[in-house]
Amino acid sequence: MDALIIAIDGPAGSGKGTLARRLAGAYGLRHLDTGLLYRAVARLMLDRSRPLDDEDAAHAVAATLNLEFMDESRLRGREIGDAASVVSAQPRVRHALLERQRSFGLEPPGAVLDGRDIGTVIFPDAPVKLFVTASAEERARRRHAELVERGEHVDYDAILDDIRKRDDRDMNRAQAPLKPADDAITLDTTDLDADAAFEAACKIVETCRQPE
Ligand code: DC
Repeated sequence: MDALIIAIDGPAGSGKGTLARRLAGAYGLRHLDTGLLYRAVARLMLDRSRPLDDEDAAHAVAATLNLEFMDESRLRGREIGDAASVVSAQPRVRHALLERQRSFGLEPPGAVLDGRDIGTVIFPDAPVKLFVTASAEERARRRHAELVERGEHVDYDAILDDIRKRDDRDMNRAQAPLKPADDAITLDTTDLDADAAFEAACKIVETCRQPE
């Protein structure tokens, strides 16, 4: 492979996005946050007042998606994450977004992709596969702190509840459920700050790139 692929999967709030960005910077790779694709589909469905379970409409949106015209700040909210989780359970939506993710990664020098099914479905042969996780309570704590910093007042228990529901939906869907690939290395960031998680991830990348 001319392109190095680093596949990063994990649940919402595990810190995989921050890690993916930092790894891309450190290894000179491009980065794709694949959650944004599903978020964009959900955003457009809501903007067009279509029910999220209208699979024909969601498929048409996914097949013609152009992220360039989308304002990322409209994709980041909590409700959009939830709506993305609903549209992403639809097989035809996933199928419509598959090639786009593969061709992004295969362009030299390669890429770091983060999502739910990168190591299992999109790049099952990626040389580096990380499964980034943390306890639901710690993920809720981080999310809560982030929102407080932005001046938003959201109840911690409501966030924890959201996180548990999203985990449940992402892990128990029939199509490409969230789970570690058999050959993924799990990085539990519950007790790690962002720098320690990054350091641990770099060590894993180095080990995977130089198999004994
Ligand atoms: O990573 P995120 O929170 O932005 O993702 C939002 C939702 O999109 C997530 O709950 C499930 C879905 N998703 C997916 O099914 N597959 C991916 N590769 C990335 C995200």
